[in-house]
Amino acid sequence: MHTIIIANPKGGSGKTTLATNIAGWLAGKRQRVVLADFDAQRSSSRWLLRRSEHLPKILGWTPDQNKRVMLDAEPQWMVIDLPAGIHGETLRDAVRRAEIILVPVSPSAFDMDATRTFLAKLAEYKAIKEGSIHIGLVGMRVDSRTRSAIELEEFLKQYDFPFVTNLRDTQGYVHAARDGLSVFDMPRSRVEQDWEQWRTLTRWIARQTAK
Ligand SMILES: Nc1ncnc2c1ncn2[C@@H]1O[C@H](COP(=O)(O)OP(=O)(O)OP(=O)(O)O)[C@@H](O)[C@H]1O
Ligand SMILES: [Mg+2]
Repeated sequence: MHTIIIANPKGGSGKTTLATNIAGWLAGKRQRVVLADFDAQRSSSRWLLRRSEHLPKILGWTPDQNKRVMLDAEPQWMVIDLPAGIHGETLRDAVRRAEIILVPVSPSAFDMDATRTFLAKLAEYKAIKEGSIHIGLVGMRVDSRTRSAIELEEFLKQYDFPFVTNLRDTQGYVHAARDGLSVFDMPRSRVEQDWEQWRTLTRWIARQTAK
């Protein structure tokens, strides 16, 4: 099973948006996917409850459930949505499970400050130093016409961890969150630009997990 964790201690950085859309992408490719919600706010679990049963299936799981519930489904992928403020042992535990860690970062000084500290912490982990866990940085809510988009890009490019893609600032993600959808469940005419940005990320994930 491939495990992707979505982490950034900064609240509202885009973790659940990334997690739900990745789960939607995998489900659309007819993969058996578990969306594991480690956040007590249960945002991704609630998103799943709003998801139509006619859409590609995603199995939800929360850590208070028996592991068997999930393992019996023989998932090929587990996407873990982590809470804000994660640190210490909880972070260490989550990192231990990961094959890929995706870090969403929004274009603001507050977000970049928090991410700087977080990435320094991650860089101390042995598995990450050795390169056995792949870390990808994702710009979230990026309006390419703004100065802050350039600042975010400069910030993300200074790391050895790859800056994989930007996802644009669009109401499409807000509507998808409300309706239990991913951008992969929406009509092409509405999300063509988003699919283009996602293609870079999905190809990157496919490359890391093919090795
Ligand atoms: N690319 C985007 N364009 C527009 N809105 C976005 C985008 N990405 C995220 N959002 C919105 O920003 C808000 C925060 O995103 P999200 O809930 O995914 O962050 P989070 O990191 O999971 O937050 P928390 O730390 O509270 O769990 C949500 O309302 C979401 O719909
Ligand atoms: Mg969240």
